[in-house]
Amino acid sequence: MNVQIEKLYKIAASNKRCIIGLMSGTSLDGLDIALCQITGAGVQTKVEVKHFKTVSYSNKIKDNILAVFAKKNISFEVLTLVNPWLAKIHSEMILDALKDWKIKPSEIDIIASHGQTVFHSPFRLHKNKNFGNATFQIGDGDHIAIHTGIITVSDFRQKHIAAGGEGAPLALYGDCLLFNEIGVPTILLNIGGISNFTYLPGTDNFDGALVTDTGPGNTLLDAVVKQFYPHLSFDLDGEIASSGKINYEVLNLWKSLPFFSEAIPKTTGPELFEWSSLMTMSKENLGIVLNPQDLLATLTLLTAETITDCIKRVVPNWRETRRFGSGGGCHNKLLMSHIHRLMPGSNFMNPSILGIPGDTKEAVLFAVLANETLSGGKTLYGDNPSVCMGKISLPS
Ligand SMILES: Nc1ncnc2c1ncn2[C@@H]1O[C@H](COP(=O)(O)OP(=O)(O)OP(=O)(O)O)[C@@H](O)[C@H]1O
Ligand SMILES: [Mg+2]
Repeated sequence: MNVQIEKLYKIAASNKRCIIGLMSGTSLDGLDIALCQITGAGVQTKVEVKHFKTVSYSNKIKDNILAVFAKKNISFEVLTLVNPWLAKIHSEMILDALKDWKIKPSEIDIIASHGQTVFHSPFRLHKNKNFGNATFQIGDGDHIAIHTGIITVSDFRQKHIAAGGEGAPLALYGDCLLFNEIGVPTILLNIGGISNFTYLPGTDNFDGALVTDTGPGNTLLDAVVKQFYPHLSFDLDGEIASSGKINYEVLNLWKSLPFFSEAIPKTTGPELFEWSSLMTMSKENLGIVLNPQDLLATLTLLTAETITDCIKRVVPNWRETRRFGSGGGCHNKLLMSHIHRLMPGSNFMNPSILGIPGDTKEAVLFAVLANETLSGGKTLYGDNPSVCMGKISLPS
């Protein structure tokens, strides 16, 4: 037997696994690395986040990804080159993190790698009847396995699509296993590049659980900052937006975009939410061109209102829910003050009180998905396909 398959067999048969979860979302801020000790599987899953860090992307890394990111026309040569290159960069980041944590690569059972989304194209976006849902992540798992010497599970989204999903959001699978409490309806909001939320009604069989994207998270805000304040990476605490004036006429026009009224579950990406198209929309329809501060002020409220409108529409009993917030957008004080004003009552808490700090949650989710793949978990939640996800790459 291939020794790596024998090793994989032993890991799969064990009740305790050391899994590194990786996440690099559409914000392109960096690679989240969560070293998790996971015991059990399915509803018995217990996760201890032993170590976590976000390794920031340098401008060179960002530029190489941006060359092939969320655009209809790119150089196919550059895409082909960036795919293994990014996997090598991610591998070096993992090995450096392990060195910092004084942990040998041989102590890690599995790497669970999300990869970097370069294009998300559900049918609702491309509307080409010859094709179905599609999504594309780069940073190939074979390269990570070879460079780190660790068995790698990657490319989780393809199986979800193959089984009938949109490939996103996958948060529901981990949220059900880690945060469901019987009798306690719960909302878990994640504000990454795109915002999504999970609703857990608190039933023992996850009946009624759902997940959906709501629209933009940080993506529009970050893109505007990159354009007008190139020395900054994002609008820290929403300070620039706080200095601007909200234009309600423009806000209401943007809120009329069809995506916001489409039925859930739905997914989207920066392919649809692009600040310059919104600027063109307000210029052509209203003759208004906002200055950067007013633009950020209006986009911050757009982000908040589209999140809260969607939650209120989909979860009529939202007032009775316990609420958790995760993702970088939860650090944006202005954005969160809008959200808390629009949904008065209990604030969105950091899930750290349940042992999973908000900034680690997406990376932990992929560790949990890999754990399910190894243990054979196949739970069906609502309309979501019942499959274990990811491709397995052996290091030799
Ligand atoms: N203090 C802060 N003030 C304002 N914005 C912040 C702050 N801290 C982080 N952010 C925002 O959070 C972003 C990073 O968020 P996150 O890492 O959750 O997104 P992501 O990598 O796109 O992940 P996802 O997969 O969830 O889309 C930054 O680009 C920035 O816009
Ligand atoms: Mg990130």
